[in-house]
Amino acid sequence: MTVQASRMASITTSPSMAVSEAAKAMMADGVDVVNLALGEPDFATPDNVCDAAFAAIREGRTAYAPPAGDPELRRAIAHKLQHDNDLTFDPGSEVMVGVGAKQVIFNALMATLEPGDEVVLLAPYFVSYPAAVSLLGGVVRVVECRRENGFRPSAVDLEAALTERTRWVLVNTPGNPSGAVFSADDLAMIGSVVAAHPRALVMSDEIYEKIIFDSATFTSFGQACPDLRDRTLIVNGLSKSHAMTGWRVGYGAGPADLIGAMTKLASQSTTSTSTISQVAATEALLGDQSTVAENCKRYEARRDLLVDGLSQVPLLEPVLPQGAFYLFADCSAMIGLVTADGDVIANDSDAAGFLLREARVAGVPGAAYGLEPFVRFSFAASDDELRKAVDQLGDALTRLASSQ
Ligand SMILES: Cc1ncc(COP(=O)(O)O)c(C=O)c1O
Repeated sequence: MTVQASRMASITTSPSMAVSEAAKAMMADGVDVVNLALGEPDFATPDNVCDAAFAAIREGRTAYAPPAGDPELRRAIAHKLQHDNDLTFDPGSEVMVGVGAKQVIFNALMATLEPGDEVVLLAPYFVSYPAAVSLLGGVVRVVECRRENGFRPSAVDLEAALTERTRWVLVNTPGNPSGAVFSADDLAMIGSVVAAHPRALVMSDEIYEKIIFDSATFTSFGQACPDLRDRTLIVNGLSKSHAMTGWRVGYGAGPADLIGAMTKLASQSTTSTSTISQVAATEALLGDQSTVAENCKRYEARRDLLVDGLSQVPLLEPVLPQGAFYLFADCSAMIGLVTADGDVIANDSDAAGFLLREARVAGVPGAAYGLEPFVRFSFAASDDELRKAVDQLGDALTRLASSQ
């Protein structure tokens, strides 16, 4: 017998957390595992941000914040969107603060989805998108963004996926897990397909905006498709840019009607995210930004270390990410091979399982993101850990390749 509502059967625990837990269980048994499963900056939150939080506590700024967020923070967000993205939002009615970007996404879907409404996801997608859609009675429509196309959607595939039931198209640039950065043209193409469907909205998850490499440039969906302003929700937050995952501050900016509904939901559920975190987030957005660029450079160096290392390893093909901090490695060459125990590696979940057992490196299978066969490795890890991962993957995969 279960106490759980039937809707709980539509979701599982986040696969990246599940792999990470398996890695931690091995570590507790004394196995030395390199855990590259979780997407979490390993840098400290900048000092000025921590200091602002200490000051907020001492000044007694510890009461509830308004459900849409602290007005000072909303003004800082509007300023950031204007300054960085050339987007104008009224902080009083078009911006809301949530308990991380995740809750903003969840509330936006909850505020808008009727049962059976369709949500178009571009695979590979962030694992929490389909879970939220299914929980809220929506139907997921997947558009595969193939590696050959730089993990971008083709106009033909996208057009075929939109119907009169489409409520949302979810865009994520730079992308988790692909690391793809959509150009203004890519976004304009998506916008033109959506424009033909008057009931469809676009949610643009821009949480990795500040982690971008080489000569890639970030364009917000709002900049690329100003004509869709009334149908666009920009989602962003501080977790990745300012190494603030545990502070739980994300935000949404969009039409007042939608933001109003999301705020109403917050007022009846979370009330607000921590007031102290909001004071800290205001400092993060308005104060010294030097660590943001410094951390980006460090991620880029780590990306190079991992990509260069894995290019020398058999059976895994790293695909160079242009942003975020994940390497989505193609593991097609592992599929069909037989392990020393006589088991066939049938799919990328088996491949990730093999790498965890035999290389003692935790990565997440592409199946979790709706595109196979890949394994995602996070490079939000130290140089030493990344070198160790490359060595251990190299040893295990060389053994696997030569034993066939
Ligand atoms: C694409 C994407 N969106 C949203 C989130 C969640 O961010 P937050 O910590 O602000 O809830 C993540 C975290 O991994 C992510 O990868």
